[in-house]
Amino acid sequence: MPPSNTRRVPIWDLPTRLFHWLLVLLFAVSYLSAQRGEFAIHFASGYAMLTILLFRIAWGFTGSRSARFTDFVKGPGAALRYLRGWFASKHDDVPTLGHNPAGGLMVLAMLVFLLVQAVSGLFTTDEVLNDGPFVRHAASEVVGSLSIVHRMAIDVLLILIAIHVAAVFAYAIVRREDLVAPMITGRKKVPEGVAGPVMSSPALAFTILAICAAMVAGLIGWTTA
Ligand code: HEM
Repeated sequence: MPPSNTRRVPIWDLPTRLFHWLLVLLFAVSYLSAQRGEFAIHFASGYAMLTILLFRIAWGFTGSRSARFTDFVKGPGAALRYLRGWFASKHDDVPTLGHNPAGGLMVLAMLVFLLVQAVSGLFTTDEVLNDGPFVRHAASEVVGSLSIVHRMAIDVLLILIAIHVAAVFAYAIVRREDLVAPMITGRKKVPEGVAGPVMSSPALAFTILAICAAMVAGLIGWTTA
């Protein structure tokens, strides 16, 4: 039975929400630019993707409670228990304040494969005109292997993303729970008396993002000098 007295509390901080929607945009741009052979755009969106992924990893240790890895990476056992409860239609009285254990594992898998995709791209060559910035600094075996990884990891990512989006729809249809609105507004309805997660400062997020951007720009500048 859903509790009658509810209120909306902040769940997702602004940096996490901006990260998510920018990631969706950059992923689409990276994918489509590769399909169309527009490699200047593909390289630029890849560097931007790497920057925000590095930011998100750092934010996973320093960010608001719901953004931290310790909050949502609970291991396969907890994820399986959660899924068993989900399919048995056991509803939690108190909704998960951040990612549930199954969603958390999926988030981790997506972040790992996105990072593999972005880093392997730095070492990828099409053997004709387009070389990632690290190609001329790495051994040919490394370039050969990572070029294969870059072409294969995208298929894994497309499968993970399809499951991710299907899960969001399943929540909306089966449980009548809208997960998308909180990822836009940051707020979620919780029973009266339940406190939202502790939030980190946006200034800290901005500083971390600036450091990540400087690291990526420095690395690219150094390899292409
Ligand atoms: C338009 C399609 C999409 C929708 C509607 C959507 C929706 C959502 C929602 C509602 C959450 C929060 C889930 C929760 O409450 O636990 C989330 C998290 C997440 N999504 Fe998506 N998503 C979409 C596409 C994508 C794509 C394309 C990617 C990867 C490229 C992605 C990667 C992620 C990641 C990494 C998180 C975790 C966010 C964080 O904690 O930083 N999503 N998504």
